[in-house]
Amino acid sequence: MSKMRVVQVSRANGPLEQVERPIPEPGPGSVRVRVEACGICHSDSFVKEGTFPGVEHPRIPGHEVAGTIDAVGAGVAGWKRGDAVGVGWYAGHCGRCDSCRRGDFATCQVAPEATGITRDGGYAEYMLANAVALARIPEGMSTLEAAPLMCAGITTYNSLRNSGARPGDLVAVLGIGGLGHLAVQFAARMGHETVAIARGREKEPLARELGARHYVDSEKQDPSAELLKLGGAKVVLATVTNGKAMTAALGGLGVDGKFVVLGAADTPLQVPAILLISGRRSVAGWPSGTSIDSQDTLAFAARTGVRSMNEVFPFKHAAEAYDRMMSGKARFRVVLTTGG
Ligand SMILES: NC(=O)c1ccc[n+]([C@@H]2O[C@H](COP(=O)([O-])OP(=O)(O)OC[C@H]3O[C@@H](n4cnc5c(N)ncnc54)[C@H](OP(=O)(O)O)[C@@H]3O)[C@@H](O)[C@H]2O)c1
Ligand SMILES: [Zn+2]
Repeated sequence: MSKMRVVQVSRANGPLEQVERPIPEPGPGSVRVRVEACGICHSDSFVKEGTFPGVEHPRIPGHEVAGTIDAVGAGVAGWKRGDAVGVGWYAGHCGRCDSCRRGDFATCQVAPEATGITRDGGYAEYMLANAVALARIPEGMSTLEAAPLMCAGITTYNSLRNSGARPGDLVAVLGIGGLGHLAVQFAARMGHETVAIARGREKEPLARELGARHYVDSEKQDPSAELLKLGGAKVVLATVTNGKAMTAALGGLGVDGKFVVLGAADTPLQVPAILLISGRRSVAGWPSGTSIDSQDTLAFAARTGVRSMNEVFPFKHAAEAYDRMMSGKARFRVVLTTGG
């Protein structure tokens, strides 16, 4: 049987290690994807550390997958060998049960599966994907460009388009990393007055290039006070990994403002009740979205020129690439490629 190279985590907190595995055959309803690029999301740390509910080891991480369909299982309609596709977090959900119709894909009653978490993901030369999880990559967009859009992209695009913010509204992006640098681009392209908030001034020129009209250095300035000076944010998209950093920006919401929690913060947010009550403010979370949301993200990005800025690592250097992401120094997404 032919073999493929994969990078797996064999046990919680174990290293990322390259091993060989048999190339899997797609079952009914599934396709095999020849992976070309896979982004490294900060959420991959939950797989590596074994902290995400349902994660078992050994596991191949990676839920920002882009490649081409290589084999098609029985009963798959609409997809063929050679199609360029992306696969995101929700690898398996039926889209029709009560949970899915509520948008609660994680508890899909038919096949609740998460790519790179409860099933193997894209740090591999080949990967199986449920056909329901596929998003079509538009003409003119490379798999390298598409990969980070499958989580960092969809999560920011989809949360923003569902946030209630309208063109012209003040939208702040808290944290300019993999998610944040895409959020700035999406917010600017959607016509929002966009504020980037990050630690230090080093990211300011890039953030402005990406479309931020205002920049706040959260180390030297008070993010809440700065947002209030600008009239108060209609939406804050919080992509940081830290609850204290989120709490520091909460007070920057305007009347009817919404604080959208995207970052899986390691410490709790502190939310003063009076802040919520007095201006009808709210705090809400948002999980990425379905494959059709991914496809919308890709299409919007292709049309408007939103692109992830990537640091590319060959697949065999996955461990080094992962450390680069965790260091916070990457500008801005680390992506693995399988060529070579
Ligand atoms: N909701 C979802 O569906 C979803 C999807 C994907 C990812 N996530 C989560 O979103 C978060 C961001 O993911 P990512 O891939 O964009 O990560 P990333 O590229 O590593 O960026 C991390 C961000 O967190 C900020 N940060 C890190 N440590 C911090 C600290 N001690 N204090 C304040 N800020 C800190 C950095 O802010 P600066 O820019 O200021 O340096 C940076 O912008 C992660 O928690 C990830 O698990 C959620
Ligand atoms: Zn992710």
